[in-house]
Amino acid sequence: MLRHFLSIFDLKKEEIEALFARSFELKQLKKRGGYSHTLKGKIIGMIFEKSSTRTRISFEVGIKDLGGSAIYISSRDTQLGRGESIADTARVLSSYLDGVIIRTYGQERIEEFAGHSSVPVINALTDLEHPCQIISDLFTLWEKGVDIGKMKLAFVGDGNNIANSLIGASAIFGFHLAVATPKGYEPDSGIIKERDNLKNVKIEITNNSREAAKGADVLYTDVWVSMGQENEMGERMKVFKLYQINSGLLSIAKPDVLVMHCLPAHRGEEITDNIVDGPNSIIFEQAENRLHTGKAILERFIAGSI
Ligand code: CP
Ligand code: NVA
Repeated sequence: MLRHFLSIFDLKKEEIEALFARSFELKQLKKRGGYSHTLKGKIIGMIFEKSSTRTRISFEVGIKDLGGSAIYISSRDTQLGRGESIADTARVLSSYLDGVIIRTYGQERIEEFAGHSSVPVINALTDLEHPCQIISDLFTLWEKGVDIGKMKLAFVGDGNNIANSLIGASAIFGFHLAVATPKGYEPDSGIIKERDNLKNVKIEITNNSREAAKGADVLYTDVWVSMGQENEMGERMKVFKLYQINSGLLSIAKPDVLVMHCLPAHRGEEITDNIVDGPNSIIFEQAENRLHTGKAILERFIAGSI
């Protein structure tokens, strides 16, 4: 059956745990210089309507490592950028390709593409969600022996795509999630509504970063201005000032708190230099794990091998 990965809600807990186990194997294999050619003969298109360092390169390397080929497609260079419909583009491209990875703006764009695609579609970030990032983040915690279901994770900053996908992860694993944003910048209302329909979910939405950070096992932040919001920069710089991960906020969390950021970071804005580079930071491990977890995601959705 054709299955897409458009949202973190598309996976069950057991399936995410299977991705952790496979990511771990693939990571060990890579460190030993070994190969798993599970994507042999497969050609994957990567349509990017926004910039990317980690997602693009880790998927390109991952596809090559798995014996497949990647074609990077900048929407500026295709007819999509000149007004060809998403539906027609999806019908045509999916008749050539074995899978499509898409980074775009509205979630409805990737959903429309998937609705007309005959091959699996993977969300490489939309304005609403960043599910591949969250799989890497959870894997990074799992690898460190964190009991994910029992942790308290505090997300401080903008109620953006990362915050929305963390809400999904919290609903799936049942961990305590506290999201602190300025007023008016809370996570997506549809996702919050989804939380309210779920039982026994421990998700708090607050405007107080200190309250969120209290006793946290994990502190997570992301940029104040996401891609596509550049015209709101001035206003956001003022509103978000108090929503910074710094030594003061760390002192409220557990002493061995782990600090996360999906990167790219704007050092000195949402997080200070000493915290990014300090002993509590697992930020660069998260980034490295994009490669290993990305490969497991490709195996799950495109090769169908796990
Ligand atoms: N974290 C992340 O998705 O980074 P890129 O924008 O560089 O892909
Ligand atoms: N929230 C950020 C994440 C970048 C990986 C953005 O959408 O720009």
